[in-house]
Amino acid sequence: MWIAKTKQQLKENLRDTSGPVILVPTMGALHQGHTSLIDAARQKAGPDGTVLVSIFVNPIQFDRESDLAKYPRPLESDIAACKAHGANGVFAPYDGEVYAEDRSITVLETELSRYLCGATRPGHFDGVCTIVLKLFNLTKCDAAIFGEKDFQQLAIVRRMVRDLDLETEILTHPTIRETDGLAMSSRNRRLTAEHRADAARICLALSSAARQTAIGKILGTAERVLSESDFVKIDYLSLVDAESLAPATNLDRPTVLACAVFYGDVRLIDHIDIPAR
Ligand code: PAF
Repeated sequence: MWIAKTKQQLKENLRDTSGPVILVPTMGALHQGHTSLIDAARQKAGPDGTVLVSIFVNPIQFDRESDLAKYPRPLESDIAACKAHGANGVFAPYDGEVYAEDRSITVLETELSRYLCGATRPGHFDGVCTIVLKLFNLTKCDAAIFGEKDFQQLAIVRRMVRDLDLETEILTHPTIRETDGLAMSSRNRRLTAEHRADAARICLALSSAARQTAIGKILGTAERVLSESDFVKIDYLSLVDAESLAPATNLDRPTVLACAVFYGDVRLIDHIDIPAR
């Protein structure tokens, strides 16, 4: 498995590839959620294709300096995980390699990012779109795979592909959960033991709420279960239309109940799909 630290090395390594290139974009601190993406990419690429994992903690998608500074960066074990799961290459650029110092162009998303994480993290999805577009351009990937856990990110990346006529196919993979239901996330490793034990309530709150039959009861149930915690601070809790991401006004279309909560300074997100009734 090759490792490229510069755009030039990436180019040289990709020059000899044949078959489809499938990109797994990550910010590292890989867990089973990521390795399941690598496995799925391997299957899609077939024996002759190339599975390329990018590992880059993208500074322009962070809204809090402290979150960026504390984001885990276990590069050695990440590289070992990529190798163990059959990746052909890793693109782990040095800080400073990706963006020109006088960078002045950013991809702006102005509709779907008005809600949920986009509303509480201004500029976050512009940063995501910008790096994803750059990775698509740098790797010339045929397809890229994203976890369904980041469902707003997925919706926005799909919108970017549609609106900018990109030719990259977008593949998806279901959320992977711990045995107590907590959605796997690189940020989970920053939880204290007490917070980690409590965090199972996020999934419980969403699944209990999804069984309710009215919007008020859905939101009320989720809020009650989350608020029973001594630790949780709710960043947002919203029921949104699955397509427009605007606040849901009825349940006769598919909706998504989504939340972001803080445990100390660790922010976790999760969501549940609620089929039309
Ligand atoms: O989902 C992530 O890890 C990041 O947002 C992504 C897509 C790698 C862009 O930095």
